Amino acid sequence: MIKIEKNSKMVGFSAATIIARQLIKKPNSVIAIPTGTTPIPMYEAIVKLVEHRIIFTQKARFFNLDEYVGLTRENPMSYAYYMKKHLLSKIEKVQHDIPSTDTRNPEEEANNYEKRIEKVGGFDLCLLGIGVDGHIGFNEPGTPFSSITHVAHLHPSTIKRNSKEFGKTVPDIAITVGIKTIMKSRSIVLMATGTEKSKILKDAFWGEVTPDVPASVLQLHPNLTVLVDEKCATEITSSANDFHWMNL
Ligand code: F6R
Repeated sequence: MIKIEKNSKMVGFSAATIIARQLIKKPNSVIAIPTGTTPIPMYEAIVKLVEHRIIFTQKARFFNLDEYVGLTRENPMSYAYYMKKHLLSKIEKVQHDIPSTDTRNPEEEANNYEKRIEKVGGFDLCLLGIGVDGHIGFNEPGTPFSSITHVAHLHPSTIKRNSKEFGKTVPDIAITVGIKTIMKSRSIVLMATGTEKSKILKDAFWGEVTPDVPASVLQLHPNLTVLVDEKCATEITSSANDFHWMNL
């Protein structure tokens, strides 16, 4: 199902509500989480829910979807640092895992990360953002749907986009949870906000299911929620007559 919220803050709140429901039902849920701009309001909402003691996260097990290779955890551009800033430093101690940033053997770390996810029974819930090229995690266009956690080479458009933040030394490889691992999640929530994502939203969910648009595979998931804001929904609502947009 797709839910159109007023703005990005409401998308974040809605996603946090889904996490809250999951944790109330199963306190030791295994939850995959993204970084980036889109989920910041979600983390803000989670922190509030924890502060107000509406949800308890001590038993939850969070796994990040991806991490750049070659950065230390202390590097402000690393996703480990992002998680500390937006969530982990603001709530009680939680069980959290993320691929190691400064590993000398990224392939081995990717395999180990997949094993660590398997060991806890896979994801109960997987939260995702989406790249303008349709990537989920760092599964860039062309990544086989059968991929498990692996070392990914970033798409030129992603490197270009990141260069705004990184300056000259933009990482070009990352470890990412694979598409198959994501698809094995019991439930999936994808968030997309802003006009920048409106075209890819339409391509991913009303277009062909193809590795050229990695997020399109989610059309095949039996328990998918897509949360978008009004700005992102412009392309789908303007052609609502052509698309069965409440019926993913
Ligand atoms: C990051 C991740 C990526 C982002 C995507 C969108 O952990 O998994 O797939 O979700 O690049 O990023 P933002 O939200 O910054 O537009």
